[in-house]
Amino acid sequence: MQFRTKAIHVGNPTDPVTGAVVPPIHVASTYVMEEAGKEQPYDYSRSGNPTRHNFETTIAALEGGCRGLAFASGMAASHCVTMILEAGQHILAGTDIYGGTYRLLHKICSRSHIGVSMVEMTDLSRLDAAVRPETKLLWLESPGNPLLSITDLQAAAAWAKQRNILTVVDNTFATPVLTRPLELGVDIVVHSATKYLGGHSDLLGGAIVVADPDLGQRLYYTQNATGGVMSPWDSFLASRGLKTLELRVREQSRSAHAIANYLTQHPRVRRVLYPGLPTHPGHELATRQMDGAYGAMLSFELDGDITQTKRLVQSTHLFRLAVSLGAVESLIEQPATMSHASYDAADRAKFGIADSLVRLSVGLEHPTDLIADLEAAITAAYQA
Ligand SMILES: Cc1ncc(COP(=O)(O)O)c(C=O)c1O
Repeated sequence: MQFRTKAIHVGNPTDPVTGAVVPPIHVASTYVMEEAGKEQPYDYSRSGNPTRHNFETTIAALEGGCRGLAFASGMAASHCVTMILEAGQHILAGTDIYGGTYRLLHKICSRSHIGVSMVEMTDLSRLDAAVRPETKLLWLESPGNPLLSITDLQAAAAWAKQRNILTVVDNTFATPVLTRPLELGVDIVVHSATKYLGGHSDLLGGAIVVADPDLGQRLYYTQNATGGVMSPWDSFLASRGLKTLELRVREQSRSAHAIANYLTQHPRVRRVLYPGLPTHPGHELATRQMDGAYGAMLSFELDGDITQTKRLVQSTHLFRLAVSLGAVESLIEQPATMSHASYDAADRAKFGIADSLVRLSVGLEHPTDLIADLEAAITAAYQA
């Protein structure tokens, strides 16, 4: 089955009781036991829920994995991955990652005496200097957030495998439509399902997908023991979102590409970060690694200072000033004070996340309207 056929048919069984083509939402927290202590598919909703299971089945199929696990948020999914480590172990993470992940690794994992080092993953030769005997996890995002850097996932996973290190890819930006990390040798995919998978800014969720059943079982054990599961209602919405995932991602990517081209030609714009541009340092790699499009996220800087940046993000009308991304509504934000405020300021400066950077999540509106909105806002940003 092709991707979009799977998105509609895998994990969406016809209801055997009524024949409904959309499976019902199962809200029960507990299930009658046929016999005390006997194993059965569902006994308690934290441990397993049919509506959640449907979403897990679909996302596992779309990522090319054997098991999916759905969480209450993207951070709950990421936290679950870090919980398979033990005190004294170490994580290598990219410098261009979601601010909340930076906070999880630096401020929460550190409480369990798990160390983290950040490495610019556009140059994998840097890994050799940063790796330690106790390194157990390699944490990647491609395209990176918010600089849209591209990491060679296959090469990174091969490097890690030789050293018995598990590779994790946060695939929220690319989605399985454009990149399927498990096919490239990556061990664990994580998602904020709040973003493209849901796609409509109306749910909070996360997911993990793996290709190895034993690893899946270890993660499931941790999830069940700690309890950060996705609710039935959010599972239903996430399943519904997946049905249109490919169409949305491809169309939104097309618009993002058009907007990136428009911005590169704008006299007020200093630089545009979008992997679809031939000038982007990761363009060739992205062309190989991403399936026919470059995603719907992009960042740029105006030729000015923070005053113009602030005015710009407050002057758009269709692009709404909000954190999050990946939905049908276009959003604009300033990473330094919003999505990446939880980075230490010194690290933001070191890794190139400038205060003047603006990040766009391009939605499903017509690109002509979105470009007109940006044009008017850029003009407004320079009016005293
Ligand atoms: C790339 C990425 N990963 C993970 C997360 C965390 O997801 P959630 O907000 O669903 O916890 C986000 C949220 O913005 C994100 O952008």
